[in-house]
Amino acid sequence: MTYRPKPDMRNDSAGSEAANRSWWDSDAEAYHEEHAAFLGVDTADGDFVWCPEGVRESEAGLLGDIGPGTVALEIGCGSAPCSRWLAAQGASVVGLDISAGMLRRGLPHVRHGIPLLVQAGAENLPVADGTVDVVCSAFGAIPFVADPARVMAEAARVLRPGGRLVFSINHPMRWIFLDDPGPDGLVATLSYFDRSPYVETDADGTPTYVEHHRTVGDRVRDVVSAGLRLVDIVEPEWPEDFEEQWGQWSPLRGAIFPGTAIFCCEKPR
Ligand SMILES: C[S@@+](CC[C@H](N)C(=O)[O-])C[C@H]1O[C@@H](n2cnc3c(N)ncnc32)[C@H](O)[C@@H]1O
Repeated sequence: MTYRPKPDMRNDSAGSEAANRSWWDSDAEAYHEEHAAFLGVDTADGDFVWCPEGVRESEAGLLGDIGPGTVALEIGCGSAPCSRWLAAQGASVVGLDISAGMLRRGLPHVRHGIPLLVQAGAENLPVADGTVDVVCSAFGAIPFVADPARVMAEAARVLRPGGRLVFSINHPMRWIFLDDPGPDGLVATLSYFDRSPYVETDADGTPTYVEHHRTVGDRVRDVVSAGLRLVDIVEPEWPEDFEEQWGQWSPLRGAIFPGTAIFCCEKPR
């Protein structure tokens, strides 16, 4: 059974976490069958792909200089190809995810405990204050939590002054369209201003998947309220001749409006 929207889960952090933990546990295999090659999950050093438009950290450099001495934390790392890529650059990396199923998929590629993978929720980071140079997230956690302002505050807390937070999410304007890569996905059906989450349930009505929507303004306010400085919002354009489709991300839609927003933030010195 599927329905949207569901206003009563708007502030339900524990319920969202429980639903998404079980969703990603059970979806880990199917997710990787479809996307592992694109994400570089099974390559020796991983890969850091920010979004279905194929933006790679190796070319975009959104995180700044990464190398020996850099301490990085990835939120919602899944099977951790991005964490492994950061580790291959010499960084000390912790990858964090709510789903043991997603983390387990990455374990065969972890050598000598590097990167360190931790099962935890993004709203309560098990990391000491001011110890991290870079917090990053590629479509991990932030669209799935009920309290994204708390994630921003947590990221700000663990960052050292001058450190960076960079995260990619569905572009908020996509919320108004059906998740359809074809022509039906070009028709606005939902209010951009309705922050009620999208919830899927099982036959008993128990939530099995929860995705939360915030407007661009909400996201900016969350960042600024956490004491971070917003440096850029990257809206990747669909690359010419790029035919790879990822769920609702398609060349048809990508030619008309953005699918991804990458927020680049800094903690003031
Ligand atoms: C779309 S996947 C992205 C995974 C990985 N970043 C990648 O690029 O393949 C979203 C990930 O966010 C994780 N996630 C969802 N809610 C979370 C939460 N509250 N805290 C931490 N991770 C969460 C999921 O378990 C899943 O691994």
